[in-house]
Amino acid sequence: MSNIFKIAILPGDGIGPEVMKQAIKVLNKIRHFLNIEIVVKKYLVGGSAIDKYGDALPTKTLLGCEKSNAILFGSVGGPKWDYLPLNKRPEKNSLLKLRKHFNLFINLRPAYIYNNLHMLSPLKNNIINKGFNILCIRELTGGIYFGKPNGRKGNGINEYSFDTEIYYRFEIERIAHMAFNFALQRNKMICCFDKANVLNTSIMWREILKKISYQYSKVKLKFMYIDNAVMQLMKNPSQFDVILCANLFGDIISDQCAMITGSIGNLPSASLNNKFFGLYEPAGGSAPDIAGKNIANPIAQILSLSMMIEYSLNNKHITKKIEKAIEKVLNKGYRTKDLYTNQLNEKIVTTEDMGTLITESIIL
Ligand code: IPM
Ligand code: MN
Repeated sequence: MSNIFKIAILPGDGIGPEVMKQAIKVLNKIRHFLNIEIVVKKYLVGGSAIDKYGDALPTKTLLGCEKSNAILFGSVGGPKWDYLPLNKRPEKNSLLKLRKHFNLFINLRPAYIYNNLHMLSPLKNNIINKGFNILCIRELTGGIYFGKPNGRKGNGINEYSFDTEIYYRFEIERIAHMAFNFALQRNKMICCFDKANVLNTSIMWREILKKISYQYSKVKLKFMYIDNAVMQLMKNPSQFDVILCANLFGDIISDQCAMITGSIGNLPSASLNNKFFGLYEPAGGSAPDIAGKNIANPIAQILSLSMMIEYSLNNKHITKKIEKAIEKVLNKGYRTKDLYTNQLNEKIVTTEDMGTLITESIIL
């Protein structure tokens, strides 16, 4: 790696810009402790880019990302652009394009419950008190999201539309190896959620995963039908370590994992390719209803930055310091509105304040 690390910052729409500002505060505090020069450049993406350039992913933004070592992404979309046809919408035309363009086939969405935020979870005490720490791994560049053919044809009552769920052997093999390696660094269990009682793709995933598992004898591999899995996640989330899913199932399950932690505002994600080039983004959306009010939770954005430092800069040491700072601030009772549960020790703070409190709590 050269001694300059370039980050393309894409704040996007809705709460994206305000939470991104807080992540940049954190970055400015730690940048001199990363042993590499950090260069940051901002680019427009999503609806804000449509407004200015008529394109959710302008060439300038894509070129900027190509010249960078990592992308820190905010969020895109909002009602203002919902009138556009599907393939012009900010989501499909920026985020999905970036994922495909950079071959970001593995999506990591860690979901764990903070000790002092048990109250937030919609799960009952006897379930949540056991705690949980899940790494949801989602295949991100294949499956029904990108499968061809897709479209809409015919007329009248015979009009029809179709999408294709398709997986190539190499797509399953490469994510399987990554997933086993992640499991080796954790509790050494993988549970793959699928629909192998119905879908051909799921049957092939099972075959390939079983075969590869012989190379990772320390990891316990299990399978669960997706319909049972959503129940199990509610009933006993502590049974899971790494969850592995195809693209669409992973999209759905990762939101469920987020919700059982209590707030999607805390959850970061990393989308990586085989060179560990990554796009890092909060798991929640652009939340247009609360945008511009200085009330959004910046933790997911800050944790996305911290995942970048872990995976693209390979600096677990600084990642841990950021995570510690967040815990410290939460332990002191500071809460953005989404995290407030009416407890005596809790103090509601703004987006800006939360960003500052976390930044100040990082001890380098
Ligand atoms: C996500 C989002 C996206 C997805 C949307 C915005 C296209 O829901 O990252 O989970 O479906 O992948
Ligand atoms: Mn989603």
